[in-house]
Amino acid sequence: MTDRPWLDASLPVAQRVELLMGAMTLDEKVGQTHQVANIHPEADADALRGATIGSSLFASGATGGNERDEGVLAFNIDAAQRHAVEGSRLGVPVLFGRDVIHGHRTVFPIPLGLAAGWDEDLAERAAAIAAHEAVVDGVAWTFAPMVDISEEPRWGRVAESLGETPVLSGRLAAAMVRGFQGSDPGHPDRVAACAKHFAGYGLSAGGRDYDTVSVGENTLRNLHLRPFKAAVEAGVCTVMAAFNDVDGVPMHAHRHLLRDVLKGEWGFDGVVVADWNGIGQLVHQGVAENLRDAARQAIEAGVDLDMCSGSYAAHLADLVRCGEVDEALVDDAVRRVLTLKFRLGLFERAYVGEPSRGNAPTPQTRAVARAAAEAAHVLVSNDGVLPLDPASGVVHLTGPFVEAGEELLGTWTLDGRGEDVVPPAAAFRERLGEDRLLLTDGRFSDRAVQQVRGADVTVALLGEHPWRSGEANSVSDIGLPAGQLDVLRQLARIGKPLVAVVYTGRPLELGEVMGLADAVLVVWHPGVEAGSALASVVFGDASPHGRLPMTFPLTTGHIPTSTHQRPTGRLIERHEDDRLGRYLDDLVFPRLPFGHGLTYTTFEYGRPRLSSGELPLAGEVEVEVDVTNTGDRAAREVVQLYFRDPLAEVTRPLTELLDWQALVLAPGEKATARFRLTATQFAYYGRDNTSRTDSGEILLRVGPDALRGESLSLRVTT
Ligand code: NOJ
Repeated sequence: MTDRPWLDASLPVAQRVELLMGAMTLDEKVGQTHQVANIHPEADADALRGATIGSSLFASGATGGNERDEGVLAFNIDAAQRHAVEGSRLGVPVLFGRDVIHGHRTVFPIPLGLAAGWDEDLAERAAAIAAHEAVVDGVAWTFAPMVDISEEPRWGRVAESLGETPVLSGRLAAAMVRGFQGSDPGHPDRVAACAKHFAGYGLSAGGRDYDTVSVGENTLRNLHLRPFKAAVEAGVCTVMAAFNDVDGVPMHAHRHLLRDVLKGEWGFDGVVVADWNGIGQLVHQGVAENLRDAARQAIEAGVDLDMCSGSYAAHLADLVRCGEVDEALVDDAVRRVLTLKFRLGLFERAYVGEPSRGNAPTPQTRAVARAAAEAAHVLVSNDGVLPLDPASGVVHLTGPFVEAGEELLGTWTLDGRGEDVVPPAAAFRERLGEDRLLLTDGRFSDRAVQQVRGADVTVALLGEHPWRSGEANSVSDIGLPAGQLDVLRQLARIGKPLVAVVYTGRPLELGEVMGLADAVLVVWHPGVEAGSALASVVFGDASPHGRLPMTFPLTTGHIPTSTHQRPTGRLIERHEDDRLGRYLDDLVFPRLPFGHGLTYTTFEYGRPRLSSGELPLAGEVEVEVDVTNTGDRAAREVVQLYFRDPLAEVTRPLTELLDWQALVLAPGEKATARFRLTATQFAYYGRDNTSRTDSGEILLRVGPDALRGESLSLRVTT
């Protein structure tokens, strides 16, 4: 240990980092800033022994097996790690990252579906399970949560997001960071998290992935940066730079946002990782002459770890030697990477070894996955056909997802397995038996139509394959995939009660679906418990309680739509007032507002009350509302608090989510939702882009979604 004093785990991390850095050559330091993809223990052996690779995402190789086969990933990671730890001069372990986005082996709903649960506890538990499973495969770091705010359903990556509002997204992101990292990311069951993609990516022009972003700093600060700040405040270990530019400056070269705001103003002391070849793309974006120039710009901007462009490995040391880059910048990046490695305990526990446990879904992890999948079910319309009585009639289950497994896992799963998914048909068969279940694939021959006529109700499973959402999967039209509406029209003509279940990674245009079907459930891509969650909601064991985390526009032409629309000089404030609508050929209200979701009971809201009409700057007031379950089933109501600041230095949203509270009420039960308010909750960034809290009126509204509810006026006094 004496020749490697940094291995003394009793020393503070900062001291260990300095001891190690003091022993490193410039080339060894640069090695720490270099992340490769699919490290291979044999092909990369020399590089690992030479300490020129600091990190890897994914791993492949030594066993020749598929990295998804049991134990192969960990075996290959250990084989590579051995070269770095035992074969290199200083023995610095490699940091292994992987996209563990909505679960590892136990796959939970896609993030947008998880967000529909409006449940921080569930989000934290799901992330904790994902971490627990991922470490068995040697993963030390996940590239989640994604907290890009987007009002753009054409953009496929909304599937990976936590919705359109900073409050929902920020709180769920903080919960996921707690779930992944726990109180100590170095605990053997935890991994480092990564808030991504910093920043503005959700504004990609036209919803086309990777496209340019034109946004001012004020909108960024008042909207898009907020969930990142929440993740940083929750202690997220890493932040990933975004592919896009912001008003002409690509994020991988955005010194102001990365260095001044994130690392400076917010004091983020973790690692800023590039996105895949994001540094190399500076050349394609036309702001860097070549990779060397790109490396210089990125290190100056504050990107600490180069994901896969190779530009740091190739050029950083030379840039320092030629005096073009200050070595202090490299030291700062290396210090951050090494600090993370020490914090993760990699110097003490570099190897996975023979795992003492497996990581396949268990009854316990499935219970959480099922709760999350049920919570993701948003009942957007229902004329009373749901819930179905499991004891009567024949159910016709139809559509492309009837027997689906892998397709219901969702867009971003590397390790989930189709065979772990409960397909809808299997779950319905278990409820109904063979005799009362009719399965068709939705291609109706005359014979099939005859059969369908014999059923009592049709449940049509429609929507998107997960490959139609996620990275690089934008669409120009948010209607259902080709042919599905025809099938629905045909089913509606048969005249039996019709339930439409919509699997999707984005808000879709659902107008005609809602017109044709007697009930519509939006269920996103729900993960391993897809079928069982659907059966329990459809047959009424569970009352659906999901709420939309994004606005559903009337049509594609209405995009962008969101709660954050700001006032124009013409008073278009009342969405329902079509005289003031801005389209000649259409109305301007959303098809389904943010926060919308029905259940199997009804709730009645009382008049909201304020404990005081005045809120002093350093004081507190309470707003409360009584909510009564007026139906005959227990259910969860998400009571939502919105606000508007009608007079400010800059235009402020017409509606903004401030807080929410979930009440679980038995039939006839009444309870009170209470929200504590402080003036800082109304702080915003003014014309000079510094945070301010003004005195004056704030309009509050409590209700079941972003459009409904009774208003109250509050005066902030200074
Ligand atoms: C590119 C994606 O933008 C990012 O979200 C992901 O984490 C990396 N690839 C690594 O797979």
